[in-house]
Amino acid sequence: MDFDTGSFRKALGGFPTGIAVVTAGQGAEAKGITVNSFTSVSLKPPLVLWCLGKNSSRYEIFTKPEEFTISILSEAERAISTQLASGPECALTGLPLVETANGAPGLAGALTILECQREAIHEAGDHIIILARVLRFTSREDGVPLLYFRGRYGALAV
Ligand SMILES: Cc1cc2nc3c(=O)[nH]c(=O)nc-3n(C[C@H](O)[C@H](O)[C@H](O)COP(=O)(O)O)c2cc1C
Repeated sequence: MDFDTGSFRKALGGFPTGIAVVTAGQGAEAKGITVNSFTSVSLKPPLVLWCLGKNSSRYEIFTKPEEFTISILSEAERAISTQLASGPECALTGLPLVETANGAPGLAGALTILECQREAIHEAGDHIIILARVLRFTSREDGVPLLYFRGRYGALAV
């Protein structure tokens, strides 16, 4: 089937997701990217994945380090999601951060912070799939997740 990429993208937008920010690097060098491709994969061993566009100007930033951090955003972090989706500026300067043992900071208002070590990179068309093992995590019981659906942000009505 030969179909229009824009229509395909729009169709896939009918799948509602959360939003995560992947961070890599340390201190003033730390960078972030907004993603909705994050997925949990395995409990034992603890594995998660996310996908990175091959044409991203941040490709090297997120494929070089073996360790990175994933923050699952709360509704209150919508502006951070927008900021870290607007290339090419992806520094974390000025954002509320929490330190992690692996060096890549987490976002202070996140619902869950996962400290990850890369397990594998799989080729996947115009993206790569980055599979990672979770080494440590912190998680809040409260808070409302930031959601994304049909190209727009939203929140759970709870
Ligand atoms: C809601 C949302 C979800 C996104 N999910 C992904 C993703 O899963 N993987 C990805 O590589 N880029 C994703 N992006 C795009 C990046 O956040 C960012 O906009 C893009 O990498 C900018 O291009 P650059 O990396 O060349 O600067 C997403 C953007 C938005 C707004």
